[in-house]
Amino acid sequence: MVDAFARRVDYIRVSVTDRCDFRCVYCMSENMHFLPKSDLLTLEELERLCAAFIARGVGKIRLTGGEPLVRRNVMQLFRGLSRHLGAGLNELTLTTNGAQLARFAGELADCGVRRINVSLDTLDAEKFRTITRWGDHARVMAGIDAAQKAGLRVKINCVALKGANDGEFLGLTEWAHGRGMEISFIEAMPLGEDAAQNIENFLPLDEVAAALSRKLTLTPSAFASGGPARYFDVSETGGRVGFITPLSHDFCDSCNRVRVTCTGMLYLCLGQEDKADLRAPLRASPDDAKLHAALDEAIFRKPRGHDFVAQKAGRMAPARRPMSLTGG
Ligand code: 5AD
Ligand code: SF4
Repeated sequence: MVDAFARRVDYIRVSVTDRCDFRCVYCMSENMHFLPKSDLLTLEELERLCAAFIARGVGKIRLTGGEPLVRRNVMQLFRGLSRHLGAGLNELTLTTNGAQLARFAGELADCGVRRINVSLDTLDAEKFRTITRWGDHARVMAGIDAAQKAGLRVKINCVALKGANDGEFLGLTEWAHGRGMEISFIEAMPLGEDAAQNIENFLPLDEVAAALSRKLTLTPSAFASGGPARYFDVSETGGRVGFITPLSHDFCDSCNRVRVTCTGMLYLCLGQEDKADLRAPLRASPDDAKLHAALDEAIFRKPRGHDFVAQKAGRMAPARRPMSLTGG
């Protein structure tokens, strides 16, 4: 699939549920409203949708949420998708908050998952509770242990937040690298009902890089994931650190992905409202012709880029859609 700006779309992120067992302050409000369960695609429908994308050249699928591991029987979907590995699909992965990993790490590895992203913003149990509202730090640590024991490569994703985890970036990096994990820092994006708060707590990653550079030597890495992160090698630890800077540098020119929600809505850009309903064509007939036609039509409408900078500056209204709907 190639869009109107000649970008090849070969990566989908599939949010299998908008629900989560945490309530991270930058992602959800405390009394978050979720989609009615009856709106959700079944696991079989999600698998069929993914298979259609694979047939159109998508080689990488990331399951996200919400928290993907709270969707009931989600392992059935992993198992189904694992059958496509080596037959069109090159990589099956997930982004998780880690709370359920102790339970599922072994099965994920069995399903051919090799690398996972775990979101973790602090090593301090009390701060963790403040940021996630409902999260239990020890449980996430046990999840990370289990994942590594199962042979999964773990990358830590850390949202940089002014007044919350600033001061910890060096410690987090040394901790991650000490355990053989990569770490990526992410700028808080103005998304969701509490977008204004994210704008207030925004911390440019230049400051994270500066904090790391006081002790560590960062050199631009030859490694490129094809995604939005810029990577640096750290001489002292032998590890790698990524910076995902949607606001201070835009990464749209090389965007290779689209996002599917648990109701079968295709979002063409993380920061824009442009979307296409895939549930109707999916349910219209058991063959996939209508679905493929809908995909062709939609991919061509993929917007050139997001407007986070204008939104943060107050020149445009931010998208009210939270990250938990599209899974980052
Ligand atoms: N800005 C930046 N990152 C966010 N995440 C959730 N909401 C936001 C936001 N508004 C992160 C989570 C997780 C990933 C899926 O997205 O922390 O690492
Ligand atoms: Fe849940 Fe992830 Fe949102 Fe936190 S950021 S509330 S873990 S979906």
